[in-house]
Amino acid sequence: MSHPLIKLIRYSRNYRFDISLATFYSLMNKFFDILPEVLIGVAVDVIVKRQDSMLAHLGIHDVKLQIIILGLFTGVTWILESTFQYLYSLKWCYLAQNLQHDMRIDAYSHIQNLELEFFENKATGNMMAIINDDINQLERFINDGVNQIIQIVGSTILISIIFFMISTQVALLSFLPIPLIIIGVFFFKNKLAPRYLKVRNAAGDLNSKLNTNLSGIATIKTYTTEKHELNAVSQLSQGYANANKHAIIMSAAVTPVIRMAVMCGFLAALIYGGILTINGHIQVASYSILIFLSQRLLWPLTYLAQVTDMYQRSMASINRVMGLLNSPINIVDGANQLATPCSGRVEFKAVDFTYHEREQLFDRLSFVIEPGETVAFVGSTGSGKSTIVKLLLRLYQHQAGQILIDNQEINTLTMDSFRSQIGVVSQETFLIDGSIADNISYGSFAASREQIIQVARLVEADQFISELPNGYECCIVEFATPYY
Ligand SMILES: Nc1ncnc2c1ncn2[C@@H]1O[C@H](COP(=O)(O)OP(=O)(O)OP(=O)(O)O)[C@@H](O)[C@H]1O
Ligand SMILES: [Mg+2]
Repeated sequence: MSHPLIKLIRYSRNYRFDISLATFYSLMNKFFDILPEVLIGVAVDVIVKRQDSMLAHLGIHDVKLQIIILGLFTGVTWILESTFQYLYSLKWCYLAQNLQHDMRIDAYSHIQNLELEFFENKATGNMMAIINDDINQLERFINDGVNQIIQIVGSTILISIIFFMISTQVALLSFLPIPLIIIGVFFFKNKLAPRYLKVRNAAGDLNSKLNTNLSGIATIKTYTTEKHELNAVSQLSQGYANANKHAIIMSAAVTPVIRMAVMCGFLAALIYGGILTINGHIQVASYSILIFLSQRLLWPLTYLAQVTDMYQRSMASINRVMGLLNSPINIVDGANQLATPCSGRVEFKAVDFTYHEREQLFDRLSFVIEPGETVAFVGSTGSGKSTIVKLLLRLYQHQAGQILIDNQEINTLTMDSFRSQIGVVSQETFLIDGSIADNISYGSFAASREQIIQVARLVEADQFISELPNGYECCIVEFATPYY
């Protein structure tokens, strides 16, 4: 099993160039974000040293001109920072959208190809969670998380280099609080996790209570239990409020406490850097850069807990999505086409079949139905009548024997070629979202209105459909509502 991040990178290989470009934009944005702090040092240099400043050494001797040029340069820096911010936001956002779309469609397409047995072992809710929540989690991670990680790492490296170039001693002193900050944010994260869990649980309890009560409002009124239910909802609502307060007591403390550690780094740069400057070991300009940058170094670290949390969640999501994508498809298409139209000879030859973890249902079941013959299977409930049809459709795989259509074993045929020639009226009805006409013609999308009406007449449904408000265009969801 490779690391989920590697799986994600492998999955997104088509977007390699875009990822590199987005990373470049993120890094450039951070660079131009930090540059103005360095330019402040250059400004101080101009003011303090005037004709002897760095810019003067570059050939600009007029002090006013130095400041104007510096101003222009700073302006350009800000414009570039903004430009790259726009570019990276756009690029990561596009990437997130493209990848989540690819993944959702891949996952859905894979699910459609899985055999029915898979759906019985895994709750459908679980698959819904993967296609929705997990893929959305990945979308958020690529949208915000990746950029945050790149920028935190990038700015830490860049600022460290500047610090060490100016003064190793001050750099080391300012870096001392880093472990403290990291330990601090993770301490808070661990302490906060169970409190947030309680908040989510309380919200869930409240939600399900409200759901049950609103759908069961007729029962509540009939038994005059309004007061009782109001009380129950009030208690759950209070529970939610309390859970939140319990979490806020601690979450509100995170920034103030971490600020103390940032302060230590800042004070080190201020005091020790100041002493070194007074003694002439550091230039005044460099001193100002140190002071400004010490905060820029330490504050981003406070996001570390948030970012690692997002990272961990996303890795778990990748594992679930990839696990689904890699789940083997056990019923695969055969290579041959069944002729259209087929003559329709059906033969079961010593077929054995057992549902997953059930007792054997068919033991060497054999029968032949000749073309044009009408056959009815009669048997007690659960004797296996529907299963015969499901096996013929190859919704389940028989374990032994042969199922033949026109003398060809169905395992050797493409599913499409024989399923499209079998008409099934199921005992469990399932309606799709859409009009009555859509439901009648489902699977035969080219059917004309005349054909649809003709079929409806055949099953004596035409009259009542015509009496509905919009006739065949009547929306299934709409007209079902009053009955539920
Ligand atoms: N997906 C499944 N997984 C496990 N067992 C199943 C599954 N579908 C059906 N069975 C079991 O297989 C047996 C045959 O079911 P089947 O639906 O074929 O019966 P039937 O003859 O169509 O019954 P009915 O007259 O109620 O429609 C039953 O014992 C049923 O519980
Ligand atoms: Mg049945």
